[in-house]
Amino acid sequence: MVVVTRNFHLVKLIPSLSHTSRHFSVKSTYHPGDQITVGGRQYPADHMTNITPHILSHLGKNLHLQQYHPLCHILDRIVKYMYSRYLTPRGNPLFSVHSQLHPVVTTQQNFDSLLIPKDHVSRKKSDNFYVNEEQLLRAHTSAHQCELMRMGFDNFLVIGDVYRRDEIDSSHYPVFHQVEGVRLLTKSDVYGKQQDMKEYELFTPEGPPTHHPHVINILKADLKDCLQGLATTLFGRDVEMRWVDAYFPFTHPSWELEVKLNDQWTEMLGCGIIQHQVLLNADVEERVGWAFGLGLERWAMKLYQIPDIRVFWSTDPGFLSQFAFDDPATNVNFKVVSKHTPCINDISFWLPSVSSYEAADFYDIVRSIGGNLVEQVYLVDQFTHPHTSRTSHCYRIVYRHMDRILTQEEVNRVHSRIEQETTTALGVTIR
Ligand code: DAH
Repeated sequence: MVVVTRNFHLVKLIPSLSHTSRHFSVKSTYHPGDQITVGGRQYPADHMTNITPHILSHLGKNLHLQQYHPLCHILDRIVKYMYSRYLTPRGNPLFSVHSQLHPVVTTQQNFDSLLIPKDHVSRKKSDNFYVNEEQLLRAHTSAHQCELMRMGFDNFLVIGDVYRRDEIDSSHYPVFHQVEGVRLLTKSDVYGKQQDMKEYELFTPEGPPTHHPHVINILKADLKDCLQGLATTLFGRDVEMRWVDAYFPFTHPSWELEVKLNDQWTEMLGCGIIQHQVLLNADVEERVGWAFGLGLERWAMKLYQIPDIRVFWSTDPGFLSQFAFDDPATNVNFKVVSKHTPCINDISFWLPSVSSYEAADFYDIVRSIGGNLVEQVYLVDQFTHPHTSRTSHCYRIVYRHMDRILTQEEVNRVHSRIEQETTTALGVTIR
């Protein structure tokens, strides 16, 4: 059987993959007059309300805006790429970036404005988090296309958390982050100012407005070149890519870009030429355009080889410290974080008075003695004595084993060997 799924795709339905909602305990009855607070705003609840406290706890986290978060690094690279590719005549970035739009949208925004039929499966209560009959947590960033176009934006990116009632496993989590790109063009943007405008139209002259074939070709070339460029910017010049025809109600024609990584083809984004009716829904006339949508987690998982989508919500320093760098294009060889709790020991010492001390030498000692037991080591404090002018450093060492629980005694033995070696090799005095 072929159905249009909640992902807004046309795919074969495999019965064994259909969803269950067993992970969600839903407050089953909301009475008329009940209120629900979502993202700091109050809404009337009703029979459709199915947002759980667990889901509410994710609102406002904005992982994509958190400094040093992997999703923030990827977003940074995507935005920089779009900024540099499309410039105004004065040399400024053409695209505007909207990354803090409130996640509650209307069914009109999430579905109707995008031509998603009334009986479409993607509207099901079992697939979405409804605030009430008329509002829901956005299921995709496409929900903001129309409002931004209506406000007059022609080239924009929308970034936000999106919510779907998925099962939770290593590649599904009910909250993830999408980037939406929209580019609208006027006739002169499409054909260039020199052309005789009479010959070059945006729409075919007869029948309901249909894009002129030239328009489709010009937009398609720009769209595909843009997105292939994005993929090579992130995954490197040699990455293998292919285009696959797709179906979305709001674009036609539509495509997906697949990228071959570790010998496996993976769908990285959906895109297409915006249906004329979508523009009319936003009161935009005399323009044509393209749009794309991509999931930041998917890109991050492929780029950093992160095996589990749940890890993005981790506040464990063993995860976050792997991304603590300023250049978002830094290569990361991601190491899976141990499930076991860490043992944390500090070490404080006075530096030798004739200072030949280098922190890098200390780190080498920690690594060579601690080996794989050391997950992290970093400076937590330094202090210069006002009278003696001696300087002391305090470092924190996080010990954690990938496969087993470490005992404090075992850690203490390693720690004191580190203290001894630091004293003899670097001439420091343990405090
Ligand atoms: N909103 C789609 C989804 O979440 C992705 C998408 C596809 C966005 C095509 C677009 C587009 O803007 O043109 O599955």
